[in-house]
Amino acid sequence: MLKYVLAGIISYLIGSISSAHLICKKYYGIDIRKYGSGNPGTTNVLRVVGGRAAAAVYAADFLKGFLVATLAKLIGGDTLALFSGLFVIVGHDWSLFLNFHGGKGIATSMGVVFALAPKAALFSSLVGITAIMLTRYVSLGSILGSGSFPLFLMIFVYPPKYIVYGVIIAAIAIYRHRANIERLMAGKEHKLGEKIRP
Ligand code: G3P
Repeated sequence: MLKYVLAGIISYLIGSISSAHLICKKYYGIDIRKYGSGNPGTTNVLRVVGGRAAAAVYAADFLKGFLVATLAKLIGGDTLALFSGLFVIVGHDWSLFLNFHGGKGIATSMGVVFALAPKAALFSSLVGITAIMLTRYVSLGSILGSGSFPLFLMIFVYPPKYIVYGVIIAAIAIYRHRANIERLMAGKEHKLGEKIRP
């Protein structure tokens, strides 16, 4: 029990470290939450700052999910890893250091799922990437990629706890994209490649 409490707290705190916020503040002197979609994440950093910063944000967010899940699996097996992975995503999305606001968790979730269920992660990422390439809406790719993840877990016959887990993290990702869904439906969503400079 103590192991889970500690893992939950540590994972949440690590997840709460917002690379987008830190990189944009330290190296570009801006608060990313005030520009573009306002989201402290890869896509908005690409839109507002540029490719190098976005690549750094994606790598940092992916790695925090991947490393937490991998380490937790080594220490306590897959149940602890799933649990810690959930908390690192929750920390990213509702950050202690950003007044319980945060990102949409896609890069961090990808890090977690590539560590714990790589085959399903790969196929759902391909769904997301294809959707982005066809529509140039990153948010739509994120939603479809996340939504397809539990389906691939079922197709590849992962254990039931993984499937329940996949449904939970897909639901979180889709919930975090509700403003994007509204913009998509209103035809007002930003397309990949649009630049909004501060
Ligand atoms: O992962 C976030 C992406 O799906 C959407 O980002 O900035 O367009 O809301 P953004």
